[in-house]
Amino acid sequence: MFVDTHCHLDDEKLKDNLDEIVAKFRAAQVGIVINIGCDAATSELVKNQAEKYDGVYFAAGIHPMDVEKATDKDIEKIAELCKHPKCVAIGEIGLDYYWDKTFKDKQKEFFASQIRLAKEARLPVNIHVRDAMGDALEILKNNKENLTFGGVMHCYSGSKETAKELLKLGLYISFGGTLTFKNAKNAVEVAAAVSLDRILTETDSPYLAPEPVRGTVNSPANIPYIVERLAKVRGAEISEIESAVYNNTLTLFKKIRA
Ligand code: NI
Repeated sequence: MFVDTHCHLDDEKLKDNLDEIVAKFRAAQVGIVINIGCDAATSELVKNQAEKYDGVYFAAGIHPMDVEKATDKDIEKIAELCKHPKCVAIGEIGLDYYWDKTFKDKQKEFFASQIRLAKEARLPVNIHVRDAMGDALEILKNNKENLTFGGVMHCYSGSKETAKELLKLGLYISFGGTLTFKNAKNAVEVAAAVSLDRILTETDSPYLAPEPVRGTVNSPANIPYIVERLAKVRGAEISEIESAVYNNTLTLFKKIRA
C-alpha cells in the first residue's frame, strides 16, 4: 500500500471530482492520504472530506502564508479540530519568505505556537519551509522539547547538511514530485542518503505533479511515480520503499489505524 502524506483535496481543481479522484488513487494502491489544511476554514473543509472517505485523514493548521490575517481565535479552532479522530497532525505550519517578508515576526510566532499546540494535542507537525530554513531550524531547535510527537519536513529539496539537522531533531523527510524533476540534484542526493526509516512520500496535490505527468493537475494517484524514483536513486526495490514508507507513516501518525 502506498501513502500520500500531504495533499490539498479541498483545492478548487480537485474538490468537485472527489469520488473520481478517490477511486483513482485506490486503484493505484494508494491507501492512506493525509489532506492538509492551510487555515481555520480549509482545515474544516479537509476534515469534512476526511469524514467522507475511508483512508483519508487530515491535518489542521495555519500555513505561514495565511498567518497574516490569522488570530488567536483561529488557533483555538485548530486546537478544537485536533480532537477529531481523523486529525493525525498539525499542519501545514512553518515559514515562507518567498512571497512576502513583511510579516516574518508573526510567521515565527504562529510557527512556534503551533509546535507547542502539537505537543498539547499529542500530534506530529507537518512543516512547510520556503526560503527560510535558517530561521525555521532555529525555531525547531528552540522547541525541541515540544517536538515530542515528531514531525515531517514536507516536499524536501534542501541540502544534505540541512537534512542532517532535521534528522537530528527526530524529523522525517517527505519527498514529492520535485524529486522526479530534471534539476532535482539536492533532493536526489538526500533521497539516496537518508536512512530508510525516516522517509515519507507525498504529492502536494494539486501542485507539483511528478514526471512523467509534470505540468498536469496532480492527485494522490501519482504517488507510485515518486516511489519508483526513490527506489531508483537508492538502488532499492519498489516494494522495499513501499513498505518502509507505510511503516514510517504508522509510526509517525499514530492516530492512523491500519
Ligand atoms: Ni501543501
